[in-house]
Amino acid sequence: MRIVREPLKIQKLVSKLSRPVVLVPTMGALHEGHLALVRRARKLARTKGTVIASLFVNPTQFAPNEDLERYPRPFERDSSLLRKETCDVLFAPVTADMYYPDRSISLIETRLSQVMCGASRHGHFDGVCLVVSKLFNLVQPDIAVFGEKDFQQLAILRRMVRDLNFPVVLEAHPTVREPDGLAMSSRNSYLTKQERGQAPIIHQTFSLAEAKVRAGMASSAKLISWMKQKIQSAPLAKIDYVTVVDPTSLEPLTQLKPPLLLAAAVFFGKTRLIDNRLIQ
Ligand code: PAF
Repeated sequence: MRIVREPLKIQKLVSKLSRPVVLVPTMGALHEGHLALVRRARKLARTKGTVIASLFVNPTQFAPNEDLERYPRPFERDSSLLRKETCDVLFAPVTADMYYPDRSISLIETRLSQVMCGASRHGHFDGVCLVVSKLFNLVQPDIAVFGEKDFQQLAILRRMVRDLNFPVVLEAHPTVREPDGLAMSSRNSYLTKQERGQAPIIHQTFSLAEAKVRAGMASSAKLISWMKQKIQSAPLAKIDYVTVVDPTSLEPLTQLKPPLLLAAAVFFGKTRLIDNRLIQ
């Protein structure tokens, strides 16, 4: 596996790589969820194509009060995991090479980022769009793989690819879970033992909620209120939001008519966990 640090070098290298080029953008602190994305990328690239993982803790998607500084950065561990997954190239730039101090161009998403996580994380998705568009320009991937755990991110990136005509296909990978249902996340490592014990309540609530939708429950408001109560039955859970939205537009739904997305963000202590369930 080749490790490339400089944006100019990756641009040069990319023109020589065999296609398809499949990109897996990450912020590192890799877990099974990321490795599943890399395996998917390997399948899509077949033996001839090229798998590129990027590892960059992107400052523009963190608000000043968020966890940029304490975000884990186990570079040696990450690169050895990627090597084992037969990733071909690791692109791991430093911030100073990705962002000029006098940069003055931004990307702003004005619709899908107004709800769910975007409502409490102002500018977060604009930062994601900015860095992913830079990665697309640098790596020129044929395919880019993203996890469904960050469903809002995926919906916004689909919109960005559509609206800005990026010549890339986005591949969505299902959320990878711990045996007790908790969605894998780099942030799970912040949880105390008690918080970790209660965190699967989000996934359990979605499973029961899906059964209610399948059984014919019609009112979104009723389901949301039931889900909130259920999640709050875990004493350490503090709800940020629980919602039911259209999976493409992310607009809130009043009627429970699939396809629909159940989504939630819940604090356990200082750690904010997100999860979702797509009901087709
Ligand atoms: O999902 C993530 O890890 C990040 O938001 C991404 C897509 C790598 C952009 O920094």
